[in-house]
Amino acid sequence: MPERLATEPRIRVDVLLDDADRRSGLLDETFWSLREQPKQISPLWLYDEHGSRLFDRITRLPEYYLTRSERGILRAHAAEIAAAAGADTLVELGSGTSEKTRLLLDALRKEGTLALFAPLDVSREVLLSSAEAVAAHYPGIGVHAVVGNFERHLNSVPAGSPRLLAFLGSTIGNLVPERRERFLGEVAETLEPDDRFLLGIDLVKSPDRIEAAYNDSEGLTETFIRNALTALNRELGSRFDQAAFAFEARWDAAHEWVDIGLRSLRQQTIALPLLEVDVSFAEGEFLRIEVSSKFRRAGIEAELTSAGLRLERWWTDAAGDFALVLARRVR
Ligand SMILES: C[S@@+](CC[C@H](N)C(=O)[O-])C[C@H]1O[C@@H](n2cnc3c(N)ncnc32)[C@H](O)[C@@H]1O
Repeated sequence: MPERLATEPRIRVDVLLDDADRRSGLLDETFWSLREQPKQISPLWLYDEHGSRLFDRITRLPEYYLTRSERGILRAHAAEIAAAAGADTLVELGSGTSEKTRLLLDALRKEGTLALFAPLDVSREVLLSSAEAVAAHYPGIGVHAVVGNFERHLNSVPAGSPRLLAFLGSTIGNLVPERRERFLGEVAETLEPDDRFLLGIDLVKSPDRIEAAYNDSEGLTETFIRNALTALNRELGSRFDQAAFAFEARWDAAHEWVDIGLRSLRQQTIALPLLEVDVSFAEGEFLRIEVSSKFRRAGIEAELTSAGLRLERWWTDAAGDFALVLARRVR
C-alpha cells in the first residue's frame, strides 16, 4: 500500500518505493549487471541525495548545453504546449528539482486548466523539497508527489483529465533501446486518448560538443559518476578504490550514445560482501555507469510509432541541439 508522508498539508506524497525496496532492487540488479559485457551498474546508483544535488549543479555548467537549450524551447513554446494539452494535471517523470517545469506550470495556469502537479522521482529528498517549493509558489494547485521508479510505477501515477505527462532533460537517453521500447510501450498504455506526452531529447550533433558536455572543466560530471561507486561501497560494503579507476565519457558513434563510466587502471578483484561475490576487472576494463543516447527525428518518431504513440509536434532550439516532442496515444 502506498504510504503517505506528513509534510505540508497541501502536499500528498505516495511512497511506492521505500528505502528498503530501492536498496533490495538495486542489489538484485547489480548482482546480474556486473556479469554483463561490459560490466555495468544501474544509473540509479547515481541519484542518492548527494548525487541529485550534484546533477543540479551540472545543469548550470557552461558545457552542459542540454538544460539551457530545453529551457529555451520551453520558454518559446510552453503556451502552445499548454493550449494543445489543455491539461488539468501535469505529471512529471524523473522530475528532479522541477526547475524548468515552472515554465509549463505557468503556461498551464495561464491557460486556466491546471489543478494538480504530480512529480515522480526515485530521489526522495530532492522530490520532496521541489514539491514543497512548487506548492509554495503555486498556492492554487494541488501537489501529489510520488517516490517511485518510472520503469515500474507508471500505472500508479495520479489520474487527471486530461493529463500532460512530461519527461524532460533527455532522461530517456539513459535507457538503452530495449528498455526504451518497454518504457514507451508503458507510456502508451498509461495515456488516455486526450492525454499528451511531452518528451525532451538531446539530438545528434558534433561529437566534440557532446563529449565536452560530459567532460566539463570543473570535473563535476566525474564527481557525479564517482558518487555511484561511493554509494555502491556504502550499500554493498564493498571497497572499490576510486584511485584504481579513471573516469571516461566517450562518444560511441555506432550506438549514437555517450558511454559514461570508469575504466580499471589495473587488474583487480573486489569483494562484494552483501552479494556474496567477488568481481574481477582486467587492466583497462570498463565499468559502464550510464549511457546518454542522442536522437534523430526519424529514429524517435519510429520508436514512438512502434510503441503506439503519434508524434504531433516537434520543436527545437535555434541551434538544433535539443528537441521537445509532443505525442499522443494512437486511438
Ligand atoms: C537526468 S536527471 C533530469 C532531471 C530533470 N528532469 C531535468 O530535466 O533536469 C534524471 C532524473 O530522473 C530521476 N530518475 C532516474 N532514473 C529514475 C527512475 N528509474 N525512476 C524515477 N526517477 C528516476 C533522477 O533521480 C533525476 O532526478
